[in-house]
Amino acid sequence: METFQVQYDRYRAAVEEALQSLFLRNKPYGRLQEAMRYSLLAGGKRVRPVMTLAFCEALGGEARRALPLGVALECVHTYSLIHDDLPCMDDDDLRRGRPTCHKVYGETMAVLAGDALQAEAFRLISHAPGLSAEQRSEAVHTLASACGGDGMVAGQVLDMDGLAHDEASLRDLCLRKTGALLAAGAYLGCIAAGASPEVRQQAAEYARHIGLAFQIRDDMLDVIADQDEFGKPVGSDREEGKRTFVDLVGLERCGELVAEETRLAREAVAGFRNKGFLLELADSLADRRK
Ligand code: IPE
Ligand code: IPE
Ligand code: MG
Ligand code: MG
Ligand code: MG
Repeated sequence: METFQVQYDRYRAAVEEALQSLFLRNKPYGRLQEAMRYSLLAGGKRVRPVMTLAFCEALGGEARRALPLGVALECVHTYSLIHDDLPCMDDDDLRRGRPTCHKVYGETMAVLAGDALQAEAFRLISHAPGLSAEQRSEAVHTLASACGGDGMVAGQVLDMDGLAHDEASLRDLCLRKTGALLAAGAYLGCIAAGASPEVRQQAAEYARHIGLAFQIRDDMLDVIADQDEFGKPVGSDREEGKRTFVDLVGLERCGELVAEETRLAREAVAGFRNKGFLLELADSLADRRK
């Protein structure tokens, strides 16, 4: 039997290989492709596409059919990180252990690299091999809803405008900013596997709980992480005047909330026959150090 780590590495290797093949062509505007690849291929845990492949396989589908959907999601996630780091947003210099995109290519190119990655994601889905036209259309709808004006971008607005002052509004912020793309990861895997609406809901529920735990853990790591291991600046939230879960409830309570959300995530997939990897994934993210 494949161990959790071997299975994770298998999914991640498939994602890395697919990402490596993107945006290679030589163009007069080749610096754009260079900037896109710089951020896309800088490492990263690839947890969202891993979730896509894991859900597809857990539900009896073939991971290779889900791969273009996971890759598209990673493109959108990378775009969100490039823009999140810009001076007009979090103004950070370090990402995935390297200088941020705008530090290397300038702000204009970083904005445009993010724009292009977002559009390219939908192009990838539109001709994903091995999926029906209906599956592609569902995938477009899922990803667009997750990253759009009520999803990740809405979460970024709530975050930038400092609009969350209590636990309920901070939860909503995190569910949009982070939970939405993670839930899309799970849901895209279900689409590729042809899962029923009921199973899709359970998968999205799992990933939303993971998303909340993931962002609370991210806020904790912004205070307690080792910067070299974390790969991004420590103390950035405070410097930017962000109000996070750590400010609101303290580190200890944050740890309890992460444990509680992880438990709820595990519960959401309790009815799955093939749930071993999903359970271990939830646990591994709860005490991650990067
Ligand atoms: C960072 O996401 C942004 C958050 C939602 C906290 P990840 O922690 O998944 O970053 P990478 O992809 O591994 O770099
Ligand atoms: C960003 O949250 C989430 C998105 C990019 C949508 P953070 O601003 O906390 O993420 P990091 O810490 O910069 O990765
Ligand atoms: Mg941010
Ligand atoms: Mg940030
Ligand atoms: Mg953060």
